[in-house]
Amino acid sequence: MTRPTVYITSPLPDAAMRIIASACDYRQWTEDRPVPRDILLRDIATVDGVLARLMDRVDAEFLDAAPGLRVVSNCAVGYDNINVPLLTERGVLACNTPGVLTETTADLAWALIMAAGRRIVEGQETIRQGRWNSSNLMFMTGQDIHGATLGLVGPGRIGSAVIRRAKGFDMNVLYHSRSRHAELEAETGAQYRALDDLLRESDFVVVLVPLSDATRGLFGAREFALMKDSAVFVNVSRGPVVNEMALYEALKQGRPWAAGLDVFEKEPIGPDHPLLTLPNVVAVPHIGSASVQTRTKMATLAATNLVAALTGQPVPAPINPAVLG
Ligand code: GLV
Repeated sequence: MTRPTVYITSPLPDAAMRIIASACDYRQWTEDRPVPRDILLRDIATVDGVLARLMDRVDAEFLDAAPGLRVVSNCAVGYDNINVPLLTERGVLACNTPGVLTETTADLAWALIMAAGRRIVEGQETIRQGRWNSSNLMFMTGQDIHGATLGLVGPGRIGSAVIRRAKGFDMNVLYHSRSRHAELEAETGAQYRALDDLLRESDFVVVLVPLSDATRGLFGAREFALMKDSAVFVNVSRGPVVNEMALYEALKQGRPWAAGLDVFEKEPIGPDHPLLTLPNVVAVPHIGSASVQTRTKMATLAATNLVAALTGQPVPAPINPAVLG
């Protein structure tokens, strides 16, 4: 039997490469920058499978360029980069990496809650720039986290893990989602709120909704105006859920009080992005799942999905299993 051929759009840990190499012939983009579109389209022309990343747009152009394609294995839990209905229509399987990054991403949400709430990055800048010379009792004061109200918008796997951690800080937890989560309420004491009420009542608003037509632009000037002037806004989901210019204006006016951002409308952002001019913004480069352990697990799961789909084994995490028949 001939070995399947795959294309891998980025460098991967050895553990994942061993899984792929054991069953497939492969070509790989090994440079430390996203593969340019023209090279990608050229290199997938004869492949059976692709191991892709969030920055790779898998659309009609991509599918047209790879007529023999049978599987796209996304090395991420989100898959807004993939036109899944179109893949389904063409009989191409899509896979993702759910579960393995839940706790790590929840950790990062908390890092942003704490860094933005307690001005950690601004504090370091203050020292580095030789500006630690205040005798004001209120110098570098932030917002209390313990005992505060956490408002979680989108309590899926990761959101629920963020909520569980709030117990250690004795927080009052509110959540908003399309439907009530009775189990989460029973387990954590989280209370459901309509979005506007959650925004009015929360000290920390954490966003973890997936990107969809329903959530695109969910947070704009109106929503920020509803928040407390002491509120901290944290986005670890997808950038386009937030109107960035509205957030910039709102932060300049001091409502919300600060923001912690892992994701942006267009990634990567450059150093001249307006939000980076604000001292009350903590920004990190989409590193929610970026621990050594978790990125390795994601890569091995993505590799296993890819190989399983091409060798007739059970696929651990298919997005459109109907394609498997
Ligand atoms: C990260 O954002 C992911 O979807 O895995």
